Amino acid sequence: MREPQPAVLKSLIPGVPVRRGKVRDIYDLGDRLVLVATDRISAFDWVLPTGIPDKGRVLTQLTQFWLNFLKVPNHLISMDPEAMGVPFADHADQLRGRAMLVRKAEVVPIECVARGYLAGSGWKEYRQSGTVCGVALPKGLRESEQLPEPIFTPATKETTGHDVNISFEEMARRIGTETAEKLRQLTLDIYRRAADYARQRGIIIADTKLEFGRLPDGQLILIDEVLTPDSSRFWPADQYRIGISPPSFDKQFVRDYLETTGWDKNSPPPPLPEEIVRKTRAKYIEAYERLTGKRFEA
Ligand SMILES: Nc1ncnc2c1ncn2[C@@H]1O[C@H](COP(=O)(O)OP(=O)(O)O)[C@@H](O)[C@H]1O
Ligand SMILES: [Mg+2]
Repeated sequence: MREPQPAVLKSLIPGVPVRRGKVRDIYDLGDRLVLVATDRISAFDWVLPTGIPDKGRVLTQLTQFWLNFLKVPNHLISMDPEAMGVPFADHADQLRGRAMLVRKAEVVPIECVARGYLAGSGWKEYRQSGTVCGVALPKGLRESEQLPEPIFTPATKETTGHDVNISFEEMARRIGTETAEKLRQLTLDIYRRAADYARQRGIIIADTKLEFGRLPDGQLILIDEVLTPDSSRFWPADQYRIGISPPSFDKQFVRDYLETTGWDKNSPPPPLPEEIVRKTRAKYIEAYERLTGKRFEA
């Protein structure tokens, strides 16, 4: 593996309006956007002061891989900085492999989540009520157990704090039954195909969150990042056991380290030591290489 370049915590393209999400810098070109995945990393809902070199490249290139694999209508126009216009082409080195030129869509205000395993907020709800987002499940399932069938568990997109799980009926009430049914089917179909593929490469995709948007002509398309470790729960298949919470493929070192620091999770988090950064970077790259079957070119 080549020596990493320093982490990119913030992109800077002069003269283009920008909005910064937790991980992406979003440049608005009117009917198109340039999405730049930085190397920022979040844990326990906080963006950490330390970045993971190349993480943004891994996320962007994995998204590109999956879009090509899935072949569903989506927002990607080009990965080439030269196609993004002069101010971007002038910063091609900073952007290459981590920026996507996309069609700007009106974002459907629902997180479309598919779950194949019982984990996270799904496991919490199941323990209390035997359901996940109102979907009744068989009795006696254990933590991390594979569900008889993947389920669709929508959530609202909250600008502050946690997304809130809602029932399918509530989703239909908010965006219309026809759109809700279309998105449920698309989400489950995408999850099934991706999870089957990843399983053959040693990665369990326990769940994933997709976002969809509408183009001015009404077409529904897949937007945002797709099936990355940030938008999904990846487990190493060889460490999977029913009854425990398997380690996160990518963030295990970060979470484990933060738990040792005494950080209260209610104030700005501490920086990460060099060793944790190096190990975490290697996991992101491993996920990319396992899934794509290609060497990651840093
Ligand atoms: N094609 C698109 N059109 C409009 N908005 C998009 C598109 N693709 C992604 N987005 C939005 O861009 C943002 C991506 O930035 P990110 O750092 O992931 O934000 P967040 O912290 O909200 O996850 C998200 O708010 C997502 O909804
Ligand atoms: Mg996001």
